[in-house]
Amino acid sequence: MKVLGIDTSCDDTAVAIYDSNEKKVLSNVVSSQYEAHRAYGGVVPEIAAREHLKNIDVIFREALEKANVDVSDIDLVAVTYTPGLLPALLVGLTFGKGVAFAGYIPFKGVHHIEAHMFSPFIKREPEFPFISLVVSGGHTMISVVRSLGNYKLLGKTLDDAIGEAFDKVAKMLDFGYPGGPAIDRIFRNYKENYLVLPKPQARGVNMSFSGLKTAVRRLIEDGYPKEMIAASFQKTAIDYVVGKLRKAVRETGIRRISVSGGVSANSYLRERLQELEDTERVKVFLPEIEFTSDNGAMVAYVGYLRFEKAERIGDPFTLNAYPSLPI
Ligand code: KG4
Ligand code: ZN
Repeated sequence: MKVLGIDTSCDDTAVAIYDSNEKKVLSNVVSSQYEAHRAYGGVVPEIAAREHLKNIDVIFREALEKANVDVSDIDLVAVTYTPGLLPALLVGLTFGKGVAFAGYIPFKGVHHIEAHMFSPFIKREPEFPFISLVVSGGHTMISVVRSLGNYKLLGKTLDDAIGEAFDKVAKMLDFGYPGGPAIDRIFRNYKENYLVLPKPQARGVNMSFSGLKTAVRRLIEDGYPKEMIAASFQKTAIDYVVGKLRKAVRETGIRRISVSGGVSANSYLRERLQELEDTERVKVFLPEIEFTSDNGAMVAYVGYLRFEKAERIGDPFTLNAYPSLPI
């Protein structure tokens, strides 16, 4: 089955073609809108929607071309319908419905977080149960996944998402937007000592990141070097998340872990997860770097899994977009 996957939930216009028989991503095209939002230091929903509208047709054609696939070859259209910025979601959803309607192709709405959760398994079968850590710009959560659709939330952030904290800290330090990759780059070149930041307080497997932001603000006021602050922030935030993950492993006894979302590209997080594999005898599943941040491939893949689970019945075209829905 050839699946078209579309995601316009935030500031990336993402379209991919996934082949379920070959377990292969035939094309994965992402157009980022960094430039359009840079002046604002964050994503402006209305601008995001306008940029998606301008780009989606071009990105769609590029995805088809790269995959060497014609519209008439597509067997399923999968589109993110929640969560995300409403005006942005509506562009991809409406476009996807249009393609499906015009070609008499079944259509499936996909939950963006579920797509992240399964992104490490795009090219293989998921092995259940597993612990899922989603670390992105909008979400930070740890859950147990027993099967597709069977999730138990163990903990989540009580305030900012971890990626949001990276972005805000980078903004305070004038490192630009998006902040995660910028801070990670500084961290990799940093060879000095780390500052000790206060460890956030949140019970059990829950997490908190807003205190780190405040700590960073204070360090800036105290005149510490920017690189030192950025590297220390990354170390503290990542060590903290890995500690929570270790707790989840010990509490559940589940030894398979999926880590996904934009922040799963972080080099220090990947290093620490490697250590966790060695010390806790767990197996960590990570997405390939191109599938860490928002992309159409993960949407196509989960759309396919959902379609199969529903005995190949698609969703009605009345399916709406929602800024947030529980998974
Ligand atoms: O998954 P994603 O593309 O979008 C959401 O669904 O939110 O995640 C984007 C987030 C941004 O906050 C970005 O700064 C962060 O992922 N990010 C990183 C890295 N690459 C992207 N954070 C830390 N280290 C990175 N290497
Ligand atoms: Zn995302």
